[in-house]
Amino acid sequence: MTAADGPPPPAGVPRDYDSDPGRYRLGRQLARVHTTVDLYNRVAQLLAELGAGTVLDVGCADGALRAALAAPAPWLVGLDTSHTLLRDHPSPAVQADAARLPVRDRAVDAITALNVLYHLPDPLPAVREARRVLRVGGHLLAATVARTDSPELAAYWTRPATSFDAEDAPRLIAQVFESVTVFRWDAPLVTLPDATAIRDYLVVRQVPIAVARAAADGLRAPLVVTKRGALIVAGRGR
Ligand SMILES: C[S@@+](CC[C@H](N)C(=O)[O-])C[C@H]1O[C@@H](n2cnc3c(N)ncnc32)[C@H](O)[C@@H]1O
Repeated sequence: MTAADGPPPPAGVPRDYDSDPGRYRLGRQLARVHTTVDLYNRVAQLLAELGAGTVLDVGCADGALRAALAAPAPWLVGLDTSHTLLRDHPSPAVQADAARLPVRDRAVDAITALNVLYHLPDPLPAVREARRVLRVGGHLLAATVARTDSPELAAYWTRPATSFDAEDAPRLIAQVFESVTVFRWDAPLVTLPDATAIRDYLVVRQVPIAVARAAADGLRAPLVVTKRGALIVAGRGR
């Protein structure tokens, strides 16, 4: 590579869901207890408004979205690469990759990909694959985080650029889908009540434990954290 090539493209966020599933589970627990708005309830509501009867939840983990849906509709299939997290997802659930969905063309009403596509070094093949399996008029709902998320922790951690940040994701999806609507958030949605919660919030973000402890010592609790991100709702035309 030469200087003229510029900086390398952002990588996908490293995956540790099988080697350290506790990190993801700790993150879910923190979000449940300390966050005021629930992404999964919002997505469940949107799926109902869109009239989605069949949903493929790509990167379903152990079923956060499944748990938010009203029974019995819609019918949701979970899909994930992590066999460890999939064991805790209610059936039906399948181990597969977002870029190679084991689903026939135009088969489902909606695909959800919540906090998943930033793991892929190049998310475009997965976005094309989502469009392939959606019926005409179906929707992809993809959520992701902004590079400027959690600015109150910036002295100790800033989110590294990824392949699918909220700043760039709508443009990327618009390369494949005919219609794109973006719901952004930029609000104080998390309150970390004590030093332990501050430390854990950073550990969940793969910050080294020594840095997380330094932040817990250095920041005053309760700490209100600004969350920034986006939910992109993309519609498939003909
Ligand atoms: C941050 S978790 C998000 C889980 C869940 N959607 C949520 O919002 O809580 C990312 C999930 O994506 C899965 N994942 C990562 N790369 C994937 C890929 N290429 N195909 C399918 N799933 C993938 C991981 O195993 C993990 O369960």
